[in-house]
Amino acid sequence: MKKQLEEILVAAKAAVAAAEDEGTLKATQVAYLGKKGALTAILRGMGGLSAEERPIIGALANEVRGEIEAAIEEKLSAVKAAELEKRLQNEKVDVTLPAKAKKPGRLHPLSQVEKELSDIFVGMGFSIAEGPEVELAYNNFDALNAPADHPSRDFQDTFYITPEVLLRTQTSPVQIRAMQGKQPPIRIISPGRVYRCDEVDGTHSPMFHQLEGLLVDKDVSLGDLKGTLEQFAKLYFGENTRTRFRPHNFPFTEPSAEVDVSCFVCGGKGCRLCKGEGWIEILGAGMVHPHVLENCGIDPNVYSGFAFGVGLERVVMIKYGIEDMRYLYENDLRFLSQF
Ligand code: DAH
Repeated sequence: MKKQLEEILVAAKAAVAAAEDEGTLKATQVAYLGKKGALTAILRGMGGLSAEERPIIGALANEVRGEIEAAIEEKLSAVKAAELEKRLQNEKVDVTLPAKAKKPGRLHPLSQVEKELSDIFVGMGFSIAEGPEVELAYNNFDALNAPADHPSRDFQDTFYITPEVLLRTQTSPVQIRAMQGKQPPIRIISPGRVYRCDEVDGTHSPMFHQLEGLLVDKDVSLGDLKGTLEQFAKLYFGENTRTRFRPHNFPFTEPSAEVDVSCFVCGGKGCRLCKGEGWIEILGAGMVHPHVLENCGIDPNVYSGFAFGVGLERVVMIKYGIEDMRYLYENDLRFLSQF
């Protein structure tokens, strides 16, 4: 029995020495020390020993058990340390590598321009009003004094949903919403999307953006309109910018004008941006037509007002020298990240 015990010790030590991971060590432990293990089997057979032999073999068996346990314990901590070392090596972070750059988002150039223009008018005391893109034909045309045969009402030019409901063709119906049921003073701007049945090309899109302005109060004159827009042009295009009003016709204003600013690239001498003109058209404006005030329950004998409408795509394209409007809608980051 003594010999058997010695053999077990040798075999167990060899198995421990050969084991290279925790799993194998656990299995070795079970194989020698477990309930059905080799050492346990020997101990079971001790009943057959004489009274003198029993304590000697018993002591030896305990010694063997202790040695195997110690060997396993020692190897286990060595294996664990090696595994940890291996993991640390694998997970080592090279702090000298370049960091992964985070690309922060930014506003689309149209949103930037909308915000810049809005900030200027808010600074002058206008507040921001909103109106729906799906609008009543009445607000988009009739209330704005567009006669039944006005060309813009044509099915060819306007997206109708029903004969009475359409996608607004301009932000001007927000004027009506701002005046209905209210009395002056009224001072609003309203940026937003508008829709027209246009084929897509370098200067047209079936959806584009405008910014509407409306001011109604007592004693509002054309001089107030000019002063407001001149101030706006200087703040937006630069202190030396001059403004020019050309007579025009809009159904909802009388008189009406198209407004040009002196070219901010050449200062008026003529260049590529202004196509040699020295002037760039930026918006439509005029004094609110008395019919429009009446349609909204405002007495044109007491009150007067001015209105204007800016095309935002146009402003963006002029400001950044963009030659094709489609770039603004293509979501190409190579283009958008320039702004
Ligand atoms: N609604 C006009 C358009 O879409 C722009 C415009 C012109 C708006 C004159 C106005 C205005 O408020 O007074 O072409």
